Amino acid sequence: MHRRLDYRTVTLREDGRAIRIIDQTRLPQQVVFCDLETQEQIRHAIYTLQVRGAPAIGVTAAYGLALAAGEIDARDRDGFMGQLADKKAYLAAARPTAVNLFWALDEMETFAAGLRYRDPKQMAADMLQRAREVEAQDVRVCRRIGENGLALLQDGWGILTHCNAGQLAAVLYGTALAPVYAGAERGYTFHMYCDETRPLLQGARLTAFEMRAAGIDTTLLCDNMAATAMARGDIQAVLVGADRIAANGDTANKIGTLGVAILAQHYGIPFYVCAPLSTFDPCCESGADITIEQRPGTEISEMWYKQPMAPAGVKLYNPAFDVTPAALITGIVSEYGVARAPYTHSIPALFAARKRQ
Ligand code: MRU
Repeated sequence: MHRRLDYRTVTLREDGRAIRIIDQTRLPQQVVFCDLETQEQIRHAIYTLQVRGAPAIGVTAAYGLALAAGEIDARDRDGFMGQLADKKAYLAAARPTAVNLFWALDEMETFAAGLRYRDPKQMAADMLQRAREVEAQDVRVCRRIGENGLALLQDGWGILTHCNAGQLAAVLYGTALAPVYAGAERGYTFHMYCDETRPLLQGARLTAFEMRAAGIDTTLLCDNMAATAMARGDIQAVLVGADRIAANGDTANKIGTLGVAILAQHYGIPFYVCAPLSTFDPCCESGADITIEQRPGTEISEMWYKQPMAPAGVKLYNPAFDVTPAALITGIVSEYGVARAPYTHSIPALFAARKRQ
């Protein structure tokens, strides 16, 4: 598929002893790779958004738990699984909203529990192999989301996206940007509009960076300009990613997504969420059950430059995500097809399709 950033956002270092990530806090000025060896480094990298985006967080967590297993010193299965549970809880506390973090940790724990018990080092080696599969699966799944999403788009369209749900949010292709890459591969010309995405500027720093690197026509706009772009007729579709999708289709994604969805409905523009099945959380009945991460107010008042941008002492409100009600979502594009309302029927149908394969 068409893409230009010639590296994986997250992968295992060749010697198998560290996770190699591209440090996203340094983009777009510098492309710096960072090796995460310790559990503290891994949790810190997730919390500080050096590695971010739901699928990339999931892959990092899978490798993280496999590396943690290599540190376990246990005499028997119970001892091993007990220590693994502690290490899992440590990584799970990194961020609360993206369900892929918990999904990946659960996958790894379940895999370990199913292994014939051997020397902990052997168990850890098997887990590392499983984490490699989680990475490979992300690539496969995102390609399929790309194909399914492309079928909804037309050559020449203006497409608005919010935050970054591209290559930098996954391993290679991303979710919301995968259809754009798939289209570019076939010679489609899309005009991408990237919301800057306050306060941490994932749209400006990351989406605009990777879209331009891929040679795709890209316009950066401040979040409060999306309405004007829609009113002018520049936007024919909205594509966004997701951090967690509830059983009824309500979707948590980067703060500001809800506003974009409301605007899209007003202007009659289709609003698509693109996400793998690992982002669906059947334990959340609706968006009300999704925990929204609250981040330090200084991300608003000082941003990246550590200089005051607001009066000292002003109250600060910094939820990192919001929930878009299912009623505002035209369709949810997954690797098993597109779910549409009523989502309580169409989401289980996606899982049933996976079972049949
Ligand atoms: O806080 P971030 O940068 O991790 O938030 C990322 C998003 O909200 C993405 O849209 C979401 O994780 C989907 S990534 C394919």
